[in-house]
Amino acid sequence: MPADRLRQITYSSRAADDVDADAILQVSRHNNALDGITGILVIEGQAITQVLEGPGESVAAAFIRIARDPRHSEVTLLSDREIEERDFGYWSMELADRLRLEPEQRRRLARRLAELPEALRRSFDFGPGSATAGV
Ligand SMILES: Cc1cc2nc3c(=O)[nH]c(=O)nc-3n(C[C@H](O)[C@H](O)[C@H](O)COP(=O)(O)O)c2cc1C
Repeated sequence: MPADRLRQITYSSRAADDVDADAILQVSRHNNALDGITGILVIEGQAITQVLEGPGESVAAAFIRIARDPRHSEVTLLSDREIEERDFGYWSMELADRLRLEPEQRRRLARRLAELPEALRRSFDFGPGSATAGV
């Protein structure tokens, strides 16, 4: 994959008990801003889904670091593809349950999630009152 192309990786995993999402986000935002990575992190109970997008080598390196992190397990690659433009370009890494999405971002997230396997989509639970309600 040419270095100037954007790569987007989506994976799921299972959080360890008592994971501190704020600590993860703080480090993620710092690193991702330096690495040109954007994306979204969804944590629903123990079910984690994350989309990472940016320069191919940066995304690959981040995914390798993340996959080794003992704060989660069962890291499963769901999709790995080249993209023309970012779906989550506004965020160095945003936590889904804090999102107040603009219609355009909502559309992009819905499109991305529509491509995910059914079992995974259910983990997002868009029902009323869910952490991602309104997405
Ligand atoms: C669910 C989850 C998501 C993470 N997302 C990112 C991320 O987007 N970017 C990042 O740099 N680190 C992320 N991390 C943290 C990395 O695993 C790692 O701790 C961090 O990049 C620092 O790596 P280092 O200790 O090798 O410097 C995430 C960790 C977890 C458990």
